[in-house]
Parts: sequence; C-alpha cells; structure tokens
Amino acid sequence: MNFASDNITGAAPEVLAALQDGNTGRLMPYGNDEVSKAAEAKIAGIFETQADVFFVATGSAANALALSVLTPSWGAVFCHLGAHLNDTECGAPEFYSGGAKLLPIDGADGKFSAGDLEAAIAAAGVGNIHHCQPKAVSITQATETGSLYSLDEIKAISAVCKTHGLKLHMDGARFANAVAALGCSAADMTWKAGVDIVSFGATKNGALAAEAVVLFDTSLTEEFAYRRKRGGHLFSKMRLFAVQMDAYATDNLWLRNAQLANANAKRMADGLDVIPGISQSQSVQANILFPKMPRSVIDGLKDDGYLFYERGGKDVIRLVLAFDTPAEDIDGFIEAARKHAGS
Ligand SMILES: Cc1ncc(COP(=O)(O)O)c(C=O)c1O
Repeated sequence: MNFASDNITGAAPEVLAALQDGNTGRLMPYGNDEVSKAAEAKIAGIFETQADVFFVATGSAANALALSVLTPSWGAVFCHLGAHLNDTECGAPEFYSGGAKLLPIDGADGKFSAGDLEAAIAAAGVGNIHHCQPKAVSITQATETGSLYSLDEIKAISAVCKTHGLKLHMDGARFANAVAALGCSAADMTWKAGVDIVSFGATKNGALAAEAVVLFDTSLTEEFAYRRKRGGHLFSKMRLFAVQMDAYATDNLWLRNAQLANANAKRMADGLDVIPGISQSQSVQANILFPKMPRSVIDGLKDDGYLFYERGGKDVIRLVLAFDTPAEDIDGFIEAARKHAGS
C-alpha cells in the first residue's frame, strides 16, 4: 500500500543474514579489520578498476563528503535544480565544504546537458573575485525524476568538466537502477565516462543503512579519510557496515535487486497505461514513475489508504517501486485505479 519511496522497505534478507553472521567475533575497530578491508575491495571490484572506497551511513553524508573534497570553501558546484543535494539535504554540501556554493541548473527530466553546463559556467563569473569559483559538477544517476543520463550524455558533461578543470561527482543513490536499466557496466557509467567520484547507494536497494563513496581519483583519498572522521562517519564498528556492503556486492545482489525494482516499475506502468484517463507524464526508465490521473482517482486511491506523494505537476503522483514491492500490491493499486477511473 505504500509507494512513497524506495526507502520504505526493510533490508534485503541477504543483508540481514550477513549482519547476523558478521555479528560474532572480536575485530579491531574503525575499519582496521579484514572484514572491512575485504568489503571495500569487493565494492571497488564492481567498478573493475583501482578505486578507494569509504563507507558512510547516509546518502546525504556520501554526497556532502564527496563534494567537500572536490571544492574549496570558496568554490562552486553545479548541479541540477532538483538535485537531492540541492533541495533535500538541508545544506549538508555547503556545511561539509565549509561554505561552497551550489549553482543549480534547470533542465527537463531532472537532467542538464553539456550545453546547459557550458552556459552555466560562462555565466558563473570565472576569475571574478566577487564570485565563488566553479570547481565541480554533480549529476544524479538515476535522477530524482527517475530518468537516466545516457553514457554519451555523461561523457559530454565530463568533457566540459575537463575543459574547465572541474571534477565530476555522481550521486548514485539509485546507481544500481541506472546500471540495470542501461545494461552497461558500473565502469562504463563512471570512470570510463569521466566520473571522478561516486556516491554508491545501497540503502534504498537492500542495505539496512550503508552507502559507499568510491574515489577513482585517489589523490583525494587522504583528504576524504580525514573529512569522514571529522564528519562523524568513521564508525567504530565499521565491520557491521562492511558486511552489509559485502552482501550487497555478493552475487550481484545490488544489480539483481535493481532489476527487480525496475521491473516492478514497468509492471505498474504497464497496468496503469491502459486505464483511460491515466498516462505517464514522463517515460519510465528506472524505478520511479509519475502518472497523471484525474483528481477523483488520486483522491480515491488516498481514501483506499494508498501512500504516495503528489509530486511532478498538477494531478501527477510519484510512485517509487522497490526490489521487494509485492506484485499483489502493484496489481491491487492498478485495480483500485481502474475502479476509481470507472473503467
Ligand atoms: C537522489 C538521492 N540522493 C541521495 C539520497 C540519500 O538520502 P539520505 O541521506 O536520506 O540517505 C536520496 C534519498 O532519497 C536521493 O533520492
């Protein structure tokens, strides 16, 4: 009955089992243990390259800490207007960076293009002592509206970054959903496309509370390590975060769960799309959809007890599907929508 977010789920059984198993033994704290080291290596392995990996507890911390090593306090970071780090992190990126300025760029479908970025850089006052100086760019993949940057779009943005000496961050709270939808590798979508640092999400997709920051530019590692400690995300019982990430990487759980979530979104979209009066306000690419429906249908669904946000425009609701959303819940929602639409 609840389609408000992919955070409404519990942890995946594999993650819970790993926590149970990892709960025994007496290991050194603060990540100085073999379990944590192995999990870091396993997450780096997903990206098929040399990378330094740090575990943190929330996506906001991952983003804020990642950006804090990309910009000085007098720098500026471009991101989308609707980026989570711009409008839903209570100023954490500004706080962790010591005051760097976010410069939001608007754009359709939760995305901006390489051309939009060029224009924003041109308007940013580069070299003007009165302006924060552009230092980094953040893109969200999959985006907050459930859309995807294609690999070519990411490469085009990273080419602009290179031209202007900016670092590129990817908010991957729904990283796995994007990889599953694009059918590419994690490497293709990141360092091979010019991304320097990734917030690799796990909590929405199966972890209890764990995310990883993956640094391909390892010159940033030392600073990140100290900032994570200073920011309160160097956990004394790190292994209990590590086992979650280890389970998430094992047998491609991250990818399998995302495939399930994306398939659930498709099931929902397919069911709603044939109901007269209901249509998708944007294409469904990952695990989020924004169907537009008559007011009476929205109110009827709410009266039935369904939970979702009204977001994305007039008479548009946001539905987020998770890896473990029961098929009966999806089919029940479709049936209820059909009933309220009078068809
Ligand atoms: C795009 C995006 N980034 C990051 C996050 C992580 O947020 P939190 O700090 O709640 O884990 C979210 C969660 O909703 C998100 O949607």
